[in-house]
Amino acid sequence: MAPEPLNALGRHLALAGFMGSGKTTVGTVVAERLGRTFVDLDDEIERRAGSAIAELFSARGEAGFRELEEEVARDVLRDGEPAVIALGGGAVLSERTRLDLRKRAFTVLLDVDPEVAWERVAGSGRPLARGEEAFHALHRDRQPLYEAVADAHARDVDATLLAAAGVHVEVGAIDELGELVPGDGPVELVADAHVSGIHGIRAQVALGARDVEQHEVPAGEAAKTPAVLERLWTTLRIGRDGSLVALGGGSTTDVVGFAAATHMRGVPWTAVPTTLVGQVDAGIGGKTAIDLPGAKNAVGAFHWPDRVVCDPLLLTTLPDEERRNGLAEVVKTGLLAGEPLWELREPEQVRACAAFKAAICIQDPHDGGPRNQLNLGHTFGHALEAAAGYALPHGRAVALGLLAALRLSGLTDEARVVEDVLAPEPVRVNRDAAWTALARDKKAERGAPRLVLLDAPGKPRWGVEVPQDDVRRALDELID
Ligand SMILES: NC(=O)c1ccc[n+]([C@@H]2O[C@H](COP(=O)([O-])OP(=O)(O)OC[C@H]3O[C@@H](n4cnc5c(N)ncnc54)[C@H](O)[C@@H]3O)[C@@H](O)[C@H]2O)c1
Ligand SMILES: [Zn+2]
Repeated sequence: MAPEPLNALGRHLALAGFMGSGKTTVGTVVAERLGRTFVDLDDEIERRAGSAIAELFSARGEAGFRELEEEVARDVLRDGEPAVIALGGGAVLSERTRLDLRKRAFTVLLDVDPEVAWERVAGSGRPLARGEEAFHALHRDRQPLYEAVADAHARDVDATLLAAAGVHVEVGAIDELGELVPGDGPVELVADAHVSGIHGIRAQVALGARDVEQHEVPAGEAAKTPAVLERLWTTLRIGRDGSLVALGGGSTTDVVGFAAATHMRGVPWTAVPTTLVGQVDAGIGGKTAIDLPGAKNAVGAFHWPDRVVCDPLLLTTLPDEERRNGLAEVVKTGLLAGEPLWELREPEQVRACAAFKAAICIQDPHDGGPRNQLNLGHTFGHALEAAAGYALPHGRAVALGLLAALRLSGLTDEARVVEDVLAPEPVRVNRDAAWTALARDKKAERGAPRLVLLDAPGKPRWGVEVPQDDVRRALDELID
């Protein structure tokens, strides 16, 4: 039997669940967020048979209908292009369909309380929703089959997207680390030296039942060097049956992810981001890298983590400045999503932002298109950071960069939101140095800077060519 899939990367995302669990409603939005086609199995059956499900049921009987359903499920699952597929409530009765799901899809079970489901479908005229008691009995009968196909569980759109990316967001998840790290092979825990002193023991205890070795890397950005990477290569002992666990901020997950990408030509890894930046951004999406002198993220690899464990509880020890860095990314994400995510409480912020980033990255794992939008505000931000010799906090640089991008987008209300929420102060750097850095930015092609702008909140456009004079003016406004 094929091994259990860990995410929906490059494969179908199937939604299973009882009648009334919201497969069509959730599936439609999930497909849109993933840029995938949505296939409703029941609709597909009706289309092919040329008649309604209820009629097919009475004409062919349940067994006849199930045969047809199995055939259509097989065709839909065999279709190469990864889609989002809502299965009919009874599709999992077929063993063949269950096997096809395992082989070709990542299956999320939409959990629903039977009472809620009944309220939704009562009176809908569905063939199997004609009496409440029978409905509940059917729910009980089918539950084991749903469990058998479920690679993950969810109740809403964001939870489905997170599951599809292998991301687990939960307050207190750190204590479940042993169960959350996939597989049962040996584990090497690599922690940021500072974070190790705060949360290391807790993580170790949680991994306790497993065979664990521990390593430390320097705190923060200092970990992203060839020397640290080399030390990891020479001290790691796991083979391909084991996995790495990274505990720390984006710097730690970047270097450990790269170590995982290269050690033994690639071993699985789990990211446990401990900063807000890490939980809403850096830990998700499989981009890993180290720095070279004067060149940030110069060497790296795409290596999707088998699991990302985001525990907002770990953020309680975060210094204010690190939290501000994260909040800038939260505001960026909210602008891209068209939702005021910065107004949510922190655990909900993490959940919504992580789901947003997960969806974009599943859609574009190798950074060829939609993922560009995540650079909103960053072209300006990076230029300011470079001009400041990297002495400027990333969050402050991004906050300023967002201001510039919104001004160039003509979105003055949103620019005011950035001012209110992030209070970015203009920086004192050399204007020409900032301009040179911006022009050198990799998003600049043939001299003309290409930017991410917003047509409106939630409507990003990337690769936009903006006249040099306008860009220069916007940059100058950020400098004291
Ligand atoms: N791969 C990606 O997609 C991606 C995306 C965004 C950023 N990044 C990278 O992430 C890095 C920045 O990461 P970051 O902002 O998460 O910070 P970081 O990892 O550099 O850590 C910042 C500081 O916070 C401390 N810290 C971390 N967690 C803590 C906690 N829970 N309590 C107390 N202190 C804690 C660290 O010890 C460190 O001193 C950059 O190198 C950036 O390039 C990568
Ligand atoms: Zn950033």
